[in-house]
Amino acid sequence: MTGNALPETRDIPGLDIDSRTGWPDELKVLLEKYPRDSWRSRPSPVAQFWLDKHDWFRHQSSALKSAGDDYREGRSDPMTFVTWLAPRLQDFIAHLHGHHQVEDYHYFPAFRAAEQRLAPGFDALAADHELLHDGISEIVATVNAFIEAARAGNPANDATRHAADRYLASSETMFRRLLRHLGDEEDLIIPVMLDRG
Ligand SMILES: [Fe+2]
Ligand SMILES: [Fe+2]
Repeated sequence: MTGNALPETRDIPGLDIDSRTGWPDELKVLLEKYPRDSWRSRPSPVAQFWLDKHDWFRHQSSALKSAGDDYREGRSDPMTFVTWLAPRLQDFIAHLHGHHQVEDYHYFPAFRAAEQRLAPGFDALAADHELLHDGISEIVATVNAFIEAARAGNPANDATRHAADRYLASSETMFRRLLRHLGDEEDLIIPVMLDRG
């Protein structure tokens, strides 16, 4: 989260996370040279480590979302759900913050300097991080309200249900955006890593 360009990067036309469906052609110049199906055959320990980390986020997002689905569909009660959820969500958020800090302060500046043609993509990814962190703040607020409601009253009462609904809505939005972000980030950065050896 460096630089003074962040405020305007939230509104890059066509590159914001909710309307993006991949990168425009001008940002795919290296992806065309190093297509996704060629990545595994090109040994790059740094790229592999980074892809594995992204896969961990995908796996954890899927587990958190599945647990939310189980609760919504009545397969778990509120206290069982929040007891399972709280430590896993805390761990997930801590890892995501740490990962984004490395990207914001090390990867993005280094790769932007190496490939200035891709600068708008790095602006978009930095803006994604800002939006994802806003989403995390909302998740923390909504899950805390949910835990408080579940502990304070009848776990099946309206306050608990409404608090749970707010948590589930905010987490689903954040997980959807995160999956978009992870894939687009890989498509932008892995080809730069492979090109630079
Ligand atoms: Fe990222
Ligand atoms: Fe990442």
